[in-house]
Amino acid sequence: MSEPAIIFPADPLNPRRPDPHFAWEARMLRELGGGHHLVDHDALLAGRAEEAVRRVPRDSGPLWYRGWMLPSARYADFAAALTARGGNLLTSAPGYAAAHELPGWYGVFEGATPASAWIPSDGPVAPGPQELAQAASRLGGHGPAIVKDYVKSRKHEWHEACYVPELADLTAVGRVVERFVELQGEFLAGGVVLRRYEEFEGAHTDAGSDAGSGPDGADSTGGPGGTDGAGGRAVEARVWWLDGRPVLVGPHPDAPRQAVEPDLTDIRALVRRLGCRFVTTDLASRADGSGWRVVEVGDGQVSDLPRGIDASGLLAALIAA
Ligand SMILES: Nc1ncnc2c1ncn2[C@@H]1O[C@H](COP(=O)(O)OP(=O)(O)OP(=O)(O)O)[C@@H](O)[C@H]1O
Ligand SMILES: [Mg+2]
Repeated sequence: MSEPAIIFPADPLNPRRPDPHFAWEARMLRELGGGHHLVDHDALLAGRAEEAVRRVPRDSGPLWYRGWMLPSARYADFAAALTARGGNLLTSAPGYAAAHELPGWYGVFEGATPASAWIPSDGPVAPGPQELAQAASRLGGHGPAIVKDYVKSRKHEWHEACYVPELADLTAVGRVVERFVELQGEFLAGGVVLRRYEEFEGAHTDAGSDAGSGPDGADSTGGPGGTDGAGGRAVEARVWWLDGRPVLVGPHPDAPRQAVEPDLTDIRALVRRLGCRFVTTDLASRADGSGWRVVEVGDGQVSDLPRGIDASGLLAALIAA
């Protein structure tokens, strides 16, 4: 049986090369003796999966993907287009959705992750006051919370579109949710999620700077609280799991130089129960010292790797899987 190859997004400006964001992973993979193929990410997103995979050779056998996030429906098209060419993405479309979207993994991680309630939506439309009130009451109806969609938050617009100081203030909840939905626009994934806010080590609610921060991780040079560079948010560990084993434990890409040593004792069984082969868990430790919590779960194929991390063990495990 052949070793899995890894598919990376192609550089839009030079389709024969990996996208610059993933070039170092492709290089490391080559040094390990692994093979890669390229996919046209824009074509995938546009729903033209067959065209997107035309550079993947026929009958390429087992395949992993390492690339940009895809909506679950686009991932399903991607998997089907590869199957039609005799390839086999090792994470199935249902497996991807289960790890990538909060409602897919929440049932397994309930109790180990902040309590959450979600409101499915059909496109970028904010839920009405009644739906919000019901979701808030499912979380106990009072106390602080955060807003996100099934996949992402607007953590860089913390006060405006992420943090809710008091769930009982439904007007304020509605305002934050509306702004969140407006900013997500067509990228809103699945629906709106409310999660009970928990105090994590390194976090302070007043400091998630709403101004001047770029996309993912751009504020990693030192938060106002001076804790570690997570910009007022929790210090997180990102654990990479393959077949239920932690193959890489490192910092979250938002604070790539942070040293982290999470306790994985309780998390391991949950990851195994989820049953997805390649996933990440972002873990934060509670400010009161009562242990590690799962902030979110992700599909390992689309989780960002922190710059400078030694990913050779992870990549070697992927091509040996
Ligand atoms: N329930 C919570 N309690 C306290 N802080 C939270 C909670 N949920 C999220 N946060 C904070 O907000 C940040 C963003 O949340 P989350 O990780 O869920 O969204 P994201 O946009 O998917 O982030 P990324 O994909 O970059 O990890 C977290 O890193 C954490 O610091
Ligand atoms: Mg996160």
